[in-house]
Amino acid sequence: MNLPKWVFPLFLIFTLFKPQIAIGGFEISSEFLKIAKQDDIFNWMVGIRRRIHENPELGYEEFETSKVIREELDKLGIGYKYPVAVTGVVGFIGSGEPPFVAIRADMDALPMQEMVEWEHKSKVPGKMHACGHDAHVTMLLGAAKILKNHSHLLKGTVVLVFQPAEEGGGGAIHVVDSGILENVKAIFGLHVSPALPLGQVSSKSGTLLAGSGFFEAVITGKGGHAAIPQHSIDPILAASNVVVSLQHLVSREADPLDSQVVTVAKFQGGGAFNVIPDSVTIGGTFRAFSKESFMQLKQRIEEVIIGQATVQRCNATVEFSSKDKPFFPAAINDNRLHEYFQNIAGDILGPSNVKTMLPLMGSEDFAVYQEVIPGYFYFLGMKSESNKKPASAHSPFFEINEDILPFGAAMHASLVANYFTEIQDSETRLNEKHHDEL
Ligand SMILES: *[C@@H]1O[C@H](CO)[C@@H](O)[C@H](O)[C@H]1NC(C)=O
Ligand SMILES: *[C@@H]1O[C@H](CO)[C@@H](O)[C@H](O)[C@H]1NC(C)=O
Repeated sequence: MNLPKWVFPLFLIFTLFKPQIAIGGFEISSEFLKIAKQDDIFNWMVGIRRRIHENPELGYEEFETSKVIREELDKLGIGYKYPVAVTGVVGFIGSGEPPFVAIRADMDALPMQEMVEWEHKSKVPGKMHACGHDAHVTMLLGAAKILKNHSHLLKGTVVLVFQPAEEGGGGAIHVVDSGILENVKAIFGLHVSPALPLGQVSSKSGTLLAGSGFFEAVITGKGGHAAIPQHSIDPILAASNVVVSLQHLVSREADPLDSQVVTVAKFQGGGAFNVIPDSVTIGGTFRAFSKESFMQLKQRIEEVIIGQATVQRCNATVEFSSKDKPFFPAAINDNRLHEYFQNIAGDILGPSNVKTMLPLMGSEDFAVYQEVIPGYFYFLGMKSESNKKPASAHSPFFEINEDILPFGAAMHASLVANYFTEIQDSETRLNEKHHDEL
C-alpha cells in the first residue's frame, strides 16, 4: 500500500485521540458494563443461568430452555419469532428497520454426568451444561435487557439469535436455512473460556477455528475361534492396521505448515477372550483449515480404510458426517470486524485485556454464519484468582464463574449498539468517496 507520508501523522493523531465511541451522545461501552454489574441485573442473570443449568437439554430438545428465553423476552417486551430451527428463538430490538445486526448464543447441553457437587447441579442424570451454553444464553438475555432499555438510541435493529444444537447438530445451518438472517449486516458470537482471566477477551482476524468432520467405518472379516486363526479373517488386526495407516495422512501427506488432525476416537469390536469377532467399528474426527485440505483428507481417509482393510482380506464401508452430524466449515473472522472488535473491547475492558490468539483445531458451528455474513467470534475469560486450575470445557468438573455474566452482556450489547454507528460512518465515507469521484 503506497500512501503519502503525511497520512501517517494524521493516522497517529486519530489513533491516539480517537473520539470516544458514542451513540446519541451516550458513552455506551463503559456505561453498559456498569449497568450489567448492577445488583438487580446481575442477580437476575445468575437466577436465569442457574435455572438453565439445573435443567440441561440436548440439541433440538431445548424446549424448557426455549420457554425460559421466551418468558424473559415477554417480560422485557421484546418481540421474537418462534420456533426457528425447532427450539430456537430470534428476538428483535430497536427501530424495526434496517440495518440489522445479530448476536448469537447457543442453547444445548452435553450428554454427560455433572460431577460438581453444588446447590444448582444438573437435575437430569447424564446431561450437563459442560460447555457454558447456559451462560451464553444468559449473557444474551442480559444484553437484550440493556439494549431494550436503550432501544431509542439504536440506529437499526438488533437480532438476538438463540440457537439450538451447537454440539454437532448443526443448529446454525437450520437457522440460516430459515432465512431469518437475510439482510443481516454482521453477526457476533462468543464462547466462555476457563483458561483466560476474567475480564479479558481473545481472538484473531482471519482463520480462528478449524473445519471439522466425522467418519465411521465398519471393517468386516470372518469370526471364529481365537485359537484357530487360519479359519477366520481377523477384523481386529485389520482395524488396528487401518488406525496406524491413518496416521500417515497428516504426518506424511500433509504440508507440515498446513495444520490438520486425524483422530480415531472410537474402536469397538469383540467381546470375548477366545473369539475373533465378525466385524469392528472405528470412528473419529478430522480437522483442517482450508476446504482443499479438508476434502483431500476426507478422500484419503476413505481410500486408506478401504485399501488397508482389503490388504488384510477384510471389507470396509465408510460413512462421513450425516444429517445429524454435518461438516462444519472453518470459522473465519472478518478482518474489518476484527479491528472494530478490538476498539470496542478496548473501550470496555481496557486495551491490555484484549488479547490476540493463535488459531485452534476446535470447531464451532458459528462458522456456518460466517460463510454467509461477515461474522466475528471471540473468547471471553472467566478464570478467577481463587481457582487456579479450572476444568476445561466438556469436563464433568466444568464450572462457570458467574462473575463473567456482566462482561458477556456488556460486550454483546456494545458490539451491536456501536455497530449501527459504524455502518453509518462507513456509508458516509463511501458517499463522500463517490462524491469526490464525480
Ligand atoms: C433504564 O434506563 C433508565 C434511564 O436511562 C434508567 O433510569 C434505568 O435505571 C435503566 N434501567 C435499567 C434496568 O438499566
Ligand atoms: C467382501 O466382499 C466380497 C464381495 O461382496 C465378498 O465376496 C467377500 O466374502 C467379503 N469378504 C468378507 C471378509 O466379508
